[in-house]
Amino acid sequence: MSPDRPAAVVVLAAGEGTRMRSAIPKVLHPVGGRTLVHHAVTAAAGLEPAHLVVVVGHGRDQVVAHLADVAPKASTVVQEEQLGTGHAVQCALADLPDLDGTVVVTYGDVPLLTTTVLRNLLDTHAEQSNAVTILTAHLGDPSGYGRVLRAQDGSVASVVEQKDATEEQRTIREVNSGVYAFDAAALRDALDRLETDNTQGELYLTDVVGHSRAAGRRVGAIAVQDTWAVEGANDRVQLAALHRELNRRTVEAWMRAGVAVLDPATTWVDADVTLEPDVILEPNTLLRGRTHVAAGATVGPNCLLVDTQVGAGAEVVSTTSYAAVIGPGATVGPYTYLRPGTRLGRGAKAGGFVEMKMAELGDGAKVPHLSYVGDATIGEGANIGAGTIFANYDGVEKHHTGVGAHSFVGSQSVLVAPVEIAEGAYVAAGSTVTSKVSPGELAVARGKQRNIAGWVARRRAGTRTAGAAERAGAGAVQDDERSGG
Ligand code: UD1
Ligand code: CA
Repeated sequence: MSPDRPAAVVVLAAGEGTRMRSAIPKVLHPVGGRTLVHHAVTAAAGLEPAHLVVVVGHGRDQVVAHLADVAPKASTVVQEEQLGTGHAVQCALADLPDLDGTVVVTYGDVPLLTTTVLRNLLDTHAEQSNAVTILTAHLGDPSGYGRVLRAQDGSVASVVEQKDATEEQRTIREVNSGVYAFDAAALRDALDRLETDNTQGELYLTDVVGHSRAAGRRVGAIAVQDTWAVEGANDRVQLAALHRELNRRTVEAWMRAGVAVLDPATTWVDADVTLEPDVILEPNTLLRGRTHVAAGATVGPNCLLVDTQVGAGAEVVSTTSYAAVIGPGATVGPYTYLRPGTRLGRGAKAGGFVEMKMAELGDGAKVPHLSYVGDATIGEGANIGAGTIFANYDGVEKHHTGVGAHSFVGSQSVLVAPVEIAEGAYVAAGSTVTSKVSPGELAVARGKQRNIAGWVARRRAGTRTAGAAERAGAGAVQDDERSGG
């Protein structure tokens, strides 16, 4: 085994998280587009351990299913009853009888912990040849945490839990973060000696520290400078604070990578989003999931893009988009709703108050105003007039509509699917199209206009409209003068 690869990382995630007051297991709460446990296993996996073990308990079916999805290399161990952090690690090691080397223990609810912080812990552990190395933190308010007790010579003596600590011990500000590196054999030996003789009646992992020292083994500590890295999410208030901090870091990293962020405070970027240089993010922009924005594109203000691809140089304003592909140089918005399966070609336009779903818009094609486009293929250079509706649903099934390249659909048309309008065709404004239109044809499918002379004078006599008509020279017309106009 390579010395810098740990034999195992054990992620403790069996607790209930009652303070979340949620039907969802705590570690499945999302922050920045990933669950808490997904963040935890991502940091752990960065160490490339031989074994990555997550200890599950509460809500384990959901947690196990989720991990199979996001971290298929992680294995899970069930801790039936939560008898303490020491017991949780006992459960994990029971499955790994021949483990030899370094074991790292972390928690499933600490989303800002990074591989770098864990790597520093491992480096200290190796440099000092320790049996146990604790990651500690100096906190302004240490309440709730286990305190690190040091001997006269400054070496780590033991960890005492808040509930078991004396008044004097509680004034200590160096706390146990709950993240450790252990020598596997020393850990196993100390775990065998754990007792429940404490206020909580639990098997404390922290007691491994005292036991190891008593057995004459080297115990050390390294303090994190960045205390956010060891901050857990115990309730929704802490979760929100962690989310804000995670987002602050994410957005700052993208700015350093060349992205212009006009208002970092109102720009929210998920962990799995990717951005290219010279992207401009205007205020109040939320980029979620696996959204990607290519170079020079502008997104915002007021956008929510989920799993959306934005091409280079595109402009997207006040838009909500789920799983859409926006081509290079395309323009979208404002007040535009792109639903899954929408694909806009190069330089295409989905304008104001346009909704699209499972619809492909060719290069340079335009749907500029107030339209619904569902289950459609629109060829390059086609123009769909204002207010056109693609009537794709007959109440039972969805059907497809095709509009060929460079065709022109007049305003306020209804295209009743399934229907095909060929390339190079026209549809007159206000048409309800129910059958095929061939190349070069104009389809007119609407009532023919007729004007009834004298109608205003007869039926709206005395109104301002009738007065205006009279001044304009329109007289009353006898009934028999009304020909079928
Ligand atoms: C623990 C430490 C404490 C440290 C603090 C840092 C012990 C005894 N105390 O206290 O010194 O300052 O973390 O946050 O270890 N878990 C299980 N199975 C269990 C019990 C816990 O998987 O049987 C998991 C929980 O889901 C949680 C983590 O371990 O993710 C910590 O458990 P928790 O009960 O919150 O420990 P603390 O009392 O906070
Ligand atoms: Ca805790």
